[in-house]
Amino acid sequence: MGASQLTKRERSRLREPPNSDALLMWYDRHAREMPWRVGPAQRRDGQQPDPYRIWLSEVMLQQTTVAAVKAYFLHFTSRWPTITALAAAKDEDVMGAWAGLGYYARARNLLKCARAVVTDHDGIFPTSREALLSLPGVGPYTASAIASIAFDQPETVVDGNVERVMARLYDIHTPLPTAKLELTRQATGLTPRKRPGDYAQAVMDLGATLCTPRSPACGICPWQTPCVARSNGTQAELPKKIPKKPKPTRYGIAYIARRTDGAYLLERRPDKGLLGGMLGWPGSEWRSDWIDAPTDRCPIATDWTALANEAHHTFTHFHLRLMVKTALLPLDCQPACGHFVLAADFRPSVLPTVMRKAFDLAQTSQEDFPLPAKPLPYSIE
Ligand code: ADE
Repeated sequence: MGASQLTKRERSRLREPPNSDALLMWYDRHAREMPWRVGPAQRRDGQQPDPYRIWLSEVMLQQTTVAAVKAYFLHFTSRWPTITALAAAKDEDVMGAWAGLGYYARARNLLKCARAVVTDHDGIFPTSREALLSLPGVGPYTASAIASIAFDQPETVVDGNVERVMARLYDIHTPLPTAKLELTRQATGLTPRKRPGDYAQAVMDLGATLCTPRSPACGICPWQTPCVARSNGTQAELPKKIPKKPKPTRYGIAYIARRTDGAYLLERRPDKGLLGGMLGWPGSEWRSDWIDAPTDRCPIATDWTALANEAHHTFTHFHLRLMVKTALLPLDCQPACGHFVLAADFRPSVLPTVMRKAFDLAQTSQEDFPLPAKPLPYSIE
């Protein structure tokens, strides 16, 4: 009798359970290169990862792709090569360097954490998951990632990639986020005591390169034999997810003013809240409708020009449609909020993406806002 004639139950009894060795052998050949990673061959040569670089990369990688993080990581580590250097940095420099990565509370916590490590731990990261968890901004995911990747402790790292791999490996149909505990339990059961750091990175690499959301490359997967979803033909359906509620749309106004000497009127946002601590254009509240979006928080009464196009941006919980108004102000103007930044000192790269979009729109539509020398990093809607 061929394997295809066996019942599902018989097939599952014959199947070898997955083991970490097969995955580690695959990782030894296919580990992705990353600027913070000490690859398997370097580990064999005795190289140890730098906990500062592992921590920094893991904080940056939350909600963001490896491709998007690389340039930021290289910039941060050349500017602040050690945790002591980062702890001594000015808040505004770190916030500016983080601009564009999003989720700005992470940048504020990054600084708090660097300062806590320097002040409370003599600049040396603690090695246990529990001690790591006590640091500002270090949650269960980051603590496990640092403990395993930087200190080779048998902790289990579960991100979206790992959840997908586990859901398929064990053919788990419970939808996310309900399935989180079950998937974590399976992931924990597979974590080896030998090379746990390499193993953690191997599962994430597998999810990112072969066990991808669409069209997984099962034919070349090191876990193809033990994978229950592959055997049952359900891999494309997994992981199941409870449908997300549609995001509401909010509406607001950004006021981009330039003084006749070329200086821009900017405002640092309060530390708490969305885009907290970031530089931006003064603007209205973001409300649920245009109708009740009054011209509040307008920095100065003047002849504002509303641009024909809006800046659109999507945050975690809502879409934003931003009307952009521009004005040229006399040298002796007295705006009610914000401060002027001379053109020579103004770097649009320190703006969070939504503020950058508004600025780029002003530049492309207005004579007073000359076009950028470099192409825009996204398309204008
Ligand atoms: N995603 C987040 N952290 C990662 C890591 N260390 N390796 C691979 N992918 C990751």
